[in-house]
Amino acid sequence: MAEVTFLPRNKMIKVKAGTSLLETSKRARVVIPARCGGNASCLMCKVIVEDPTTILPLTQNEKEKLSEDQVSGNIRLACQAKVFNKKVVVKIPESPLNKVIQAQLQNKNKMI
Ligand code: FES
Repeated sequence: MAEVTFLPRNKMIKVKAGTSLLETSKRARVVIPARCGGNASCLMCKVIVEDPTTILPLTQNEKEKLSEDQVSGNIRLACQAKVFNKKVVVKIPESPLNKVIQAQLQNKNKMI
């Protein structure tokens, strides 16, 4: 079994080794954006893995779709990356749309 923690919500769940991070997030009721059904085509499910040795190596799809900078920054596709038999910590990046909405709400509050 692998123990997977999703940040920033700090939600932990145990799953069998070999389970994808996307499937793990669904079981933990943590939302990772995904529109292609896990086919490595929408590229919306990017996550940051704190320790890349805790998940299986890059899949061929990830090698083709992720840049060198993304790979060196421990970014993985949640639908492709599978947990290994260890403690795994996964950061889900904040969506750019949420950042824009939060900034506008803060500006609106300042005006009131
Ligand atoms: S779910 Fe579309 S690329 Fe992962």
